[in-house]
Amino acid sequence: MNQTSQETFLGHPKGLFILFFTELWERFSFYGMRAILVLYLTAETTDKLNPGLGWTSKEALALYGWYGMFVYFMGIFGGAIADKWLGQKKSVVVGGVFIILGQFSLAVDSIMMFYSGLLLLVCGVGLLKPNISTMVGGLYPKGDSKRDAGFTLFYIGINIGALAAPILVGYFGEKVDWHLGFSLAGFGMIVGQAVFVFGGKHLKAVGNLLKHSPTHGHLADQPLTKVEKDRIVVLLLSFLIVIVFWAAYEQAGGLMNLYARDSVDRFVFGFEVPTSWFQSLHAFYVVLIGAPMAWLWLKWGNMGKESSAIFKMGVGMIIMSISFLALMGAVYDASLNMLGKAPIYWLLFSYFLHVIAELSISPVALSFITKLAPAKYASLMMGAYFAITGLGNKAAGILGEAAQEAGEMAVFSVIALACLFVGILIFLFVKKLKVISHGAEDDITELSGVEG
Ligand code: PHE
Repeated sequence: MNQTSQETFLGHPKGLFILFFTELWERFSFYGMRAILVLYLTAETTDKLNPGLGWTSKEALALYGWYGMFVYFMGIFGGAIADKWLGQKKSVVVGGVFIILGQFSLAVDSIMMFYSGLLLLVCGVGLLKPNISTMVGGLYPKGDSKRDAGFTLFYIGINIGALAAPILVGYFGEKVDWHLGFSLAGFGMIVGQAVFVFGGKHLKAVGNLLKHSPTHGHLADQPLTKVEKDRIVVLLLSFLIVIVFWAAYEQAGGLMNLYARDSVDRFVFGFEVPTSWFQSLHAFYVVLIGAPMAWLWLKWGNMGKESSAIFKMGVGMIIMSISFLALMGAVYDASLNMLGKAPIYWLLFSYFLHVIAELSISPVALSFITKLAPAKYASLMMGAYFAITGLGNKAAGILGEAAQEAGEMAVFSVIALACLFVGILIFLFVKKLKVISHGAEDDITELSGVEG
């Protein structure tokens, strides 16, 4: 699977840049569609200029939650299909075709096509997303110190796509025609697919179906050792943290999206910022602070301070809690003013904290999985991580729905408290968890803040 002699560019295998641009456009497609999904669902059917489906916010957020869950849940199947039948490369191609068909189905004004489109997207992303990530790793031989830097670049690509999408798809979808927005998302994936197919010559040695997968060859052979079992326990516990994190973080596309639309004063120098543009903020901040954050954590670790993955996750959870405190500030502020609208800076600040937390948790978790999972369960664990992300998305939807009755203040406070609680728990148990990790992190220099 590893390419050892290959052409390089900027010190990295050329194939990395093929994967970079493919995933950039896939994420453009994914986040573009997502930025307008609940807005389209809740737009009035009677709107003369740009009618939507006229759903209630509660219904829309419920669908958003299910979609968010399944789209990542399918990662387990996507991984399994690649391992057993297609190999990662073909899975990415098939996934890309599904995504293109899915986006263009949404572009058709018919409810049947709408649901078919969602189904196609769920299958497509499930096939493409985990496998393209695994392919990045496959470009680097074991122990290659450039691997982490490669993931950093890949992660920046993801976020460039995620940054541009809500601006373009959001603008044309929200202001011109929802279906035009979905078509744009479809064109994005066509570009990604073209890059992948035409750049195939740089990916010859990676992502192919292995006849005798070393992973699967051993699956039933030997019982797990005590150390391996302990490490799996730590991993499963870290998955619980990750669920709470994503449930909070993914409020962005749902509840916070609607909150931005209805309760935030979006006028800046007389220009009304389209609601969907807020969906670019996460990505914007990641591109802005991704590298400095990785550097900071590295420095912190080099100073001899506690910088285990679990500790970083704890820090992330506390910061996440503060970000919801900021949203509570927004609701309070809005209750004081005449228009009942919150100033925009609360939201900008909250999103910023989200990203500091994300960079302390998400890439760290991926890197952690590769360190702790027994080799024979490595893909299974990675698939499980994607599924967990999916569960977090679903939980986010449930919380968003609850806000329709309980009100935003109540839901923002519950999330802030939950994150604080998990953060404190982590700090209390970090030493113990490190003990049962049996030094899994000690022998590898962690350039965290990278792969995500
Ligand atoms: N920004 C990340 C991405 O789109 C978010 C993510 C992390 C999604 C982990 C799935 C799993 O890739």
